[in-house]
Amino acid sequence: MNAIDIINKTKRSVILSDDEINWLVKSYTEGDIPDYQMSAWLMAVRLNGLTEQETISLTYAMRDSGDIMRLNVGKTADKHSTGGVGDKTSLIIGPIVASCGVCMAKMSGRGLGHTGGTIDKLESISGFRTELPISEFEEILRENKFAIISQSGELCPADKKMYDLRNATGTVDSIPLIAASIMSKKLSVNADYLLLDVKYGSGAFMKTKDEAEKLAAIMEKIGIAAGKKCKAIVTDMDTPLGRNIGNSLEVREAIEILQGKYKGKLYDLCIELSAEILRLADKGDYQECVAMAEEAVSSGKALEVFRNTIRLQGGDPKVCDDVELLPQARSKYEVRTVQDMEILKINCEEIGMTSLLLGAGRINKGDPIDMSAGVVMNIEPGDKVSAGDTLLTLYSSVCSDFSDAAVRALNAIDFESLNCHKPLT
Ligand code: URA
Repeated sequence: MNAIDIINKTKRSVILSDDEINWLVKSYTEGDIPDYQMSAWLMAVRLNGLTEQETISLTYAMRDSGDIMRLNVGKTADKHSTGGVGDKTSLIIGPIVASCGVCMAKMSGRGLGHTGGTIDKLESISGFRTELPISEFEEILRENKFAIISQSGELCPADKKMYDLRNATGTVDSIPLIAASIMSKKLSVNADYLLLDVKYGSGAFMKTKDEAEKLAAIMEKIGIAAGKKCKAIVTDMDTPLGRNIGNSLEVREAIEILQGKYKGKLYDLCIELSAEILRLADKGDYQECVAMAEEAVSSGKALEVFRNTIRLQGGDPKVCDDVELLPQARSKYEVRTVQDMEILKINCEEIGMTSLLLGAGRINKGDPIDMSAGVVMNIEPGDKVSAGDTLLTLYSSVCSDFSDAAVRALNAIDFESLNCHKPLT
């Protein structure tokens, strides 16, 4: 076999065999195929796509490039979100599902660009350790049924290499490549029940619902083909999820949801996703699972699981009773309106970028982040606000001048004036 034949086949939409795909991925991972040939193949895929079977074979080849986790804790569930702004659902769903008796063994990543990462969020809790040996991860799961660690071992080295190359060659936005990239990592974590939350909208990879549905369908097929109980659902990421964006701010909101303080879209989505996982784990029909998830919050059982996870992973569990113990920003800035208006739309990606400007995210891997920084939204589409109302509050410990971030946040808001056309402050 050689790379040129394989590139030519995909260029002409000739279907590749499993052996060809395996050879390509293995040879590239081991350094026997240079970046320029793999880039050419990736671009051929970006332009011509892959068949369902080719996508499944690519996923398996990428999964098999590294370790596959085998936890000794019985059946486990995993949930994956394709990412967005303000998505703290793992911090809420994990405790809910675990308190209903299903083990959630989560391996999560750090934030990059405008999207946040669960590991960064958890590390805003003083002392919280996310790099645990697998034996300790298993112990915590046996005791508490919910633990989260950062990626460990050599999981999917092929994806790491291919993802970096895709980033540099304009080949990220390809449904088969995204599906294979995400699913190879999920299959190497190897949970029995897998819920995939595929996002669409201004803050997501997939800008339209139609694209998200295509991605969801192929990801679900890959999971089922690999013998998992797997379901993919498509949810909206056109508006930031919940009120808070930024690491400690998001932990705060997750705790407040688990305390039963707030209902609304974020709560509803977490109940829906939890119920889907419980259903995959045969805990009942959908309505029974919704009731179970709601009871886990209202009874305080889910919060108790989260408190235990924090304690067992070295963090300060008192944050579950007093969210003021989480890192607090040194400065804040309230963005107000000087006119009455109706909020039409909030550009999710721009709010994520505002949070990044305030110090909450990283532009390059390894950049330091300000755990206290971020944005708290007082508005959502459809709200009517009056002159003088605060639209959002910006928080930062590293930013002394909030003007750039305030302009960016204001530009993210689409509104209709309800009186004269006065400028915003
Ligand atoms: N997330 C991934 O892990 N891979 C992709 O290709 C896109 C999003």
